[in-house]
Amino acid sequence: MSFDNVPSSIRPVKIGNVTVKNNLALAPMAGITNSAFRRLAAEGGAGLVVTEMVSAESIKYGNKKSFKMLELYPGEMAAVQVFGADPASMALAARAAADYGAAIIDINAGCPVKKVTRNGAGSALMGNPVLFGRIIEAAAKAVKIPVTVKFRVGLRPGEICGPELAKIAESSGAAAITLHGRYASAMHSGPVDMDAVAASAAAVKIPVYGNGGIIEAAGVKAFLEAGCKGAAIGRASVYNPMIFREIESAFSGGKISVSEKDRLAMFLRFLRLNAELYGEEKGLSAARKLAGYWLKGLPGAASARMRFMTLTKLAEAEELVNSLVF
Ligand SMILES: Cc1cc2nc3c(=O)[nH]c(=O)nc-3n(C[C@H](O)[C@H](O)[C@H](O)COP(=O)(O)O)c2cc1C
Repeated sequence: MSFDNVPSSIRPVKIGNVTVKNNLALAPMAGITNSAFRRLAAEGGAGLVVTEMVSAESIKYGNKKSFKMLELYPGEMAAVQVFGADPASMALAARAAADYGAAIIDINAGCPVKKVTRNGAGSALMGNPVLFGRIIEAAAKAVKIPVTVKFRVGLRPGEICGPELAKIAESSGAAAITLHGRYASAMHSGPVDMDAVAASAAAVKIPVYGNGGIIEAAGVKAFLEAGCKGAAIGRASVYNPMIFREIESAFSGGKISVSEKDRLAMFLRFLRLNAELYGEEKGLSAARKLAGYWLKGLPGAASARMRFMTLTKLAEAEELVNSLVF
């Protein structure tokens, strides 16, 4: 049965020569979507997962930490996101990521953080459509795998450039787009401009994933009804990587809902995977920043979070998390 004409359903998507099992993606998040978290999201039903953004310049200069970010876990199917403002460096980084096993290269043209934009990268590329197109073209020519691009509907309200950039992305060789429906000036909060999302999605034939503020199936539905082929979920997945399964089940009339106990069991698994990845102390330190997301709303969360900040041993963290619900 073909779902091609059903606007509002969860179904596989073709991104260039790669078919992903469903149209729900984990949005890239620096400091969060490392391989431990991506594994949880993939198990939690995400059809596509994306790494943290990796600096093309750092790859060019052989930075070890950046190369570590290109590492995927065995069997992983992931898009690797790169950022930069120089087409040659972006091509080089795309090749390096492909050599490390990336299934897709994603170009960051939406990050509004100063550290990134002051060098002309991230959302600064939205203000430079020629360079935006040249970077996509350079990356697409450098690798055989699909190249995708993530950007926003505009730099600030009243200045919608999503449709124009979507067309440039398509004609420069992008195989899909992730469109954050907020303006760059809004950073990561506030409402999504769904009209601007719809206009951008209508401008191209390649799949557009809508992004911004999704916390449940209704949010995905709104993007699909605006003409998007898929949806990318960021923060709501951080405390519940099973959200993708929950949403897929909601679309088919089912009712998968993750209990607090299951959620915290996943948090423990995240801690263990982080420890495997970076060693016990470093792994816990990386996970600490996310404790607030996972513990939010639980009785005793504030004090548990404070205690979490001081822990250096996995066993102590496990005991603390277990004391919350088990
Ligand atoms: C902590 C954090 C880190 C992020 N890092 C990246 C990144 O590396 N690359 C990127 O394209 N977007 C990044 N984003 C933006 C997200 O991918 C997403 O567009 C944004 O959070 C909106 O989706 P949401 O409302 O579902 O969280 C980041 C967002 C957050 C909150």
